[in-house]
Amino acid sequence: MEVVIVQDAQAGGELIAEGIADLLRRKPDALLGVATGSTPLPIYDALTAKVRSGAVDVSRARIAQLDEYVGLPAGHPESYRSTVLRQVVEPLGLDADAFMGPDGSAEDVQAACEAYDRALAEAGGVDLQILGIGTDGHIGFNEPCSSLASRTRIKTLTEQTRIDNARFFEGDIDQVPHHVITQGIGTILEARHLVLLATGEGKAEAVAQTVEGPVAALVPASALQLHPHATVVVDEAAASRLKLADYFRHTYANKPAWQGL
Ligand code: GLP
Repeated sequence: MEVVIVQDAQAGGELIAEGIADLLRRKPDALLGVATGSTPLPIYDALTAKVRSGAVDVSRARIAQLDEYVGLPAGHPESYRSTVLRQVVEPLGLDADAFMGPDGSAEDVQAACEAYDRALAEAGGVDLQILGIGTDGHIGFNEPCSSLASRTRIKTLTEQTRIDNARFFEGDIDQVPHHVITQGIGTILEARHLVLLATGEGKAEAVAQTVEGPVAALVPASALQLHPHATVVVDEAAASRLKLADYFRHTYANKPAWQGL
């Protein structure tokens, strides 16, 4: 695992956007897996700025969604489909058909999950998957004790995650769905490169357990240790509980190993 410690969220966003631009220069039709939440916004802002300045051409890029709420009405502004369209697809100037995601309003949710896994495989697999991390160590919506081999499926959110996400629903936890579809941990691990961004003190414990703790279903993000190419980008606050912080600074500060791969 590469652990890149950056000064702040902006620097993390810029670094990852440059990694994505680098990928798109090598593979213009790359499939980018995107995460929602507040953390990745600086990535999308930095990438949009690169597109507008002509530094990278994203016109052939494809976008894949990581997870989705179940049961929100179609077009709900906080569905992850609406969120990704608003925060990524539209600012990058991509068409909606460049974008794929699981159907959170399907009558047969299990069939929708299986269809999404198949669609990802048929699209050639995700080239670079952006991840955030929940305060409880979840990735996507794989809550603690998710199988590390899981495929895309329906999950029940923990109370903590519903509290964390209530801010997107007028602060009202009762509006936060209980159920979600998420790419499984096994699905996520099939992406060719995993890039997790974590910022702020609130993520420090989850980051320490992810990077330095044992691989454990209790900390779903620790499954990144099983991936041959996982990059964790953290700001100083999120890195504050890493025992090996100095080693990581020394090793990865100026030359993240993904560049040029
Ligand atoms: C949700 C999403 C995750 C995201 C997490 C953290 O649970 N399903 O993909 O990583 O929120 O969000 P934030 O970055 O806002 O802390």
